[in-house]
Amino acid sequence: MQQGVTLDEFLAEHMANMPDAADLRALLGDIATACIDLSDLVRRGELAGVLGAAGQENVQGEEQKKLDIIANDVFIELTESTGRVAGLASEEMDNHYPIPEKHQRGRYLLTFDPLDGSSNIDVNGSTGTIFSITEHAGDKPPVDADFLQSGRQQVCAGYCLYSSASMLVLTLGNGVAGFTLDNKRNAFVLTHPNMKVPAATNEFAINAAYSEHWQAPVKKYIEQCVAGKEGPIGKAFNMRWAGSMVGDIHRILCRGGIFMYPLDERMIKEGKDGKLRLLYEANPMGLLIEQAGGMAHTGLVSILDIAPDNLHQRVPVLMGSKEEVQRVVDYHASAT
Ligand code: AHG
Ligand code: MN
Ligand code: MN
Repeated sequence: MQQGVTLDEFLAEHMANMPDAADLRALLGDIATACIDLSDLVRRGELAGVLGAAGQENVQGEEQKKLDIIANDVFIELTESTGRVAGLASEEMDNHYPIPEKHQRGRYLLTFDPLDGSSNIDVNGSTGTIFSITEHAGDKPPVDADFLQSGRQQVCAGYCLYSSASMLVLTLGNGVAGFTLDNKRNAFVLTHPNMKVPAATNEFAINAAYSEHWQAPVKKYIEQCVAGKEGPIGKAFNMRWAGSMVGDIHRILCRGGIFMYPLDERMIKEGKDGKLRLLYEANPMGLLIEQAGGMAHTGLVSILDIAPDNLHQRVPVLMGSKEEVQRVVDYHASAT
């Protein structure tokens, strides 16, 4: 039986011509190990005692689940002493995590959403981990401001989906490759070598329960989708909402679609700029989607062009198949 190319073998081949790639390759190995550990915990669920709330909130005022905190700790534990990272930042930490002085600091900044789709944990729904890697300039220990790099500065971005199979999907800025966890080998094996988002789609993903709060361009677009074949778009649409951005974006990387978490009137009243976070949700997913031939936008600007001003900055998100994302962007342009 064909064994398949492992993640490490793939990286060895694809990074052969990259200067100083050894640390990045090893860091991706550490991330893969963390994801395998988490995949195991997610899979064992109640048996591992990891379900339920942690009884505290994160800096964004969101209730933390036990697994949010465990996942954050697993990532710290597997990366802080390797000499490959200069610092870590995540959804679950108010400020960045400095590498303790007893350990050597490396050159990469790792920014991550330890567990995406936390509300799915207790119902055995799909969840994931999202990560983004940038370089730290200079020899000094990083400060929060060093993490505020635009999406185009990412040297690598990816996610691991914990679903019926666990899959690691990543980009090094030259296409997107997907690896399925082979539990028998305890390794990720290349199964989806060149993931592409088809330009056309008839599938949309949005939490429609918020429709009363939507702004005019999104309202108009979804009304047109729902109008189907006889409507102005002339296509019958299908709707899917995984409740986990990783689940939705993975589906879009497999068969196309448009994912939307737009700015709405309720957020504006609450002084929020969106729901999803730029540095560890929108940027890494935006790079993957663009690298797969799709489009990632806020409605006004390309996500990857935003100059971040805060570790936990939120942004409106429209991403996926080019034709449909462009259509919603056009509706934003004609509304201004
Ligand atoms: P997280 O669990 O990391 O806080 O992220 C949840 C995000 C995203 O994964 C998902 O698309 C969205 O929140 C779901 O939001 P709603 O519950 O508003 O549908
Ligand atoms: Mn998330
Ligand atoms: Mn999360």
